[in-house]
Amino acid sequence: MRMAVVGTGYVGLVAGAGFANLGNTVRGVDRDAAKIEALQAGRIPIFEPGLGELVARNVAAHRLSFSTDVEAAVRDSEVVLIAVGTPSGPDGRADLSAVMAVADLVGAAIRAYTVVLIKSTVPVGTNDRVTERIAGRTKVDFDVVSNPEFLKEGAAVADFMKPDRVVIGARSERALELVRRLYLPLMRTAERILVMDPRSAELTKYVANSYLATRISFINEIANLCERVGADASAVRAGAGSDSRIGLRYFFPGCGYGGSCFPKDVRELLGTAEQYGLPLQILGAVHRVNEGQKALLARKVTARFGADLHGKRFAVWGLAFKPETDDMREAPSLAVVAALVGAGAEVRAHDPVARECARAQLPASVRLVDDEYEAARGADGLVVCTEWQGYRTPDFARLRGEMRLPVIFDGRNVYAKCGLAELGFEYYGIGVGKALPA
Ligand SMILES: NC(=O)c1ccc[n+]([C@@H]2O[C@H](COP(=O)([O-])OP(=O)(O)OC[C@H]3O[C@@H](n4cnc5c(N)ncnc54)[C@H](O)[C@@H]3O)[C@@H](O)[C@H]2O)c1
Repeated sequence: MRMAVVGTGYVGLVAGAGFANLGNTVRGVDRDAAKIEALQAGRIPIFEPGLGELVARNVAAHRLSFSTDVEAAVRDSEVVLIAVGTPSGPDGRADLSAVMAVADLVGAAIRAYTVVLIKSTVPVGTNDRVTERIAGRTKVDFDVVSNPEFLKEGAAVADFMKPDRVVIGARSERALELVRRLYLPLMRTAERILVMDPRSAELTKYVANSYLATRISFINEIANLCERVGADASAVRAGAGSDSRIGLRYFFPGCGYGGSCFPKDVRELLGTAEQYGLPLQILGAVHRVNEGQKALLARKVTARFGADLHGKRFAVWGLAFKPETDDMREAPSLAVVAALVGAGAEVRAHDPVARECARAQLPASVRLVDDEYEAARGADGLVVCTEWQGYRTPDFARLRGEMRLPVIFDGRNVYAKCGLAELGFEYYGIGVGKALPA
């Protein structure tokens, strides 16, 4: 099939390359000329394992190309996949301006029956709005299908190739059949396509992310309780999560969830529910707990060293919102670093891949270094914000030697079972390690 993928970010680039890999002819288009220039020159503008090879292979096979000309790409395609950003606006609701701008272009450009797939995460009712918008600009037949994306950054290529399920919200059989044909090659073992109405498909995406965020805020609150009552959050997590009805995934205590999806999608679902006169009590608490959790590591630091951190130096390991990505959107590290710098501390930070993306979002005084031990040099404390594999088994003797004081604040409980007290460290985790006064 001939496809235009509008928006070549984390979702669009993976989906575009993935569909090209199945034999479709895909044009990836974006309004960001620098991004398209990079892609045309064979450079991948984001860090995503396996994506570089997938893009290169399909560009070489002439199935994947890139351009800034959205209109031309749309005109030549049977399927237009919308994967533009839907960030939170100032009121916390999803900003749909990019989606609507693409709808306008689609309305102006199409010349024959076209299926428009909305892959961006969009609030309930957006399919109707996009349909109206396009219909206002063309007499040509088209269908708008809601097709939310569930990939995880860091494992996006694998998730695209082997999705748990594909959700299709469609009103027309014709569109449904075409979209089914697009996805069936990924489901040779068993068909995992869930067909529903567009509103249900739109809501499904928010429910999935909100539920995962709920698990994280729940275990975080329990970890904080563990500290108060003298229990070990790792043991409690394992004990409760080993129940097959509960499970251990998305059930790690930590310094809060971040990223480009959970925070904004939770805010949007809260806004949708308010709008419809049914405020979601549990989800409101999920959001509040997460805001508190992002402040927790810095609170632990000041509980240990005092509110005034002038003259103190801290190493921060890990800036990206999670391992295996360079995405810094709403990363908990940003809150931690801002609080430490705000209290007067000097900060040296390390991240294996997100340094460049992080620079613009960090206070200018923060030094970004290439080596994690260099970050720790002369530090009064080490704060771990992201559980990159490379941090999991450090040379603790060397680390101790580098630091002025051997104090670790572990926001991901990476070292919960490393016996750090015996190795001479003062260790504070999330619901594990030494407790600090409330
Ligand atoms: N990142 C994820 O893990 C993930 C997972 C599932 C769903 N989603 C959803 O997918 C959508 C895209 O997310 P992302 O992380 O890929 O965002 P992104 O910011 O990485 O990419 C969006 C791209 O769209 C481009 N763009 C914006 N407006 C445009 C326009 N009018 N015309 C052409 N291009 C335009 C931007 O330049 C950018 O390259 C969002 O709705 C997001 O919520 C993201």
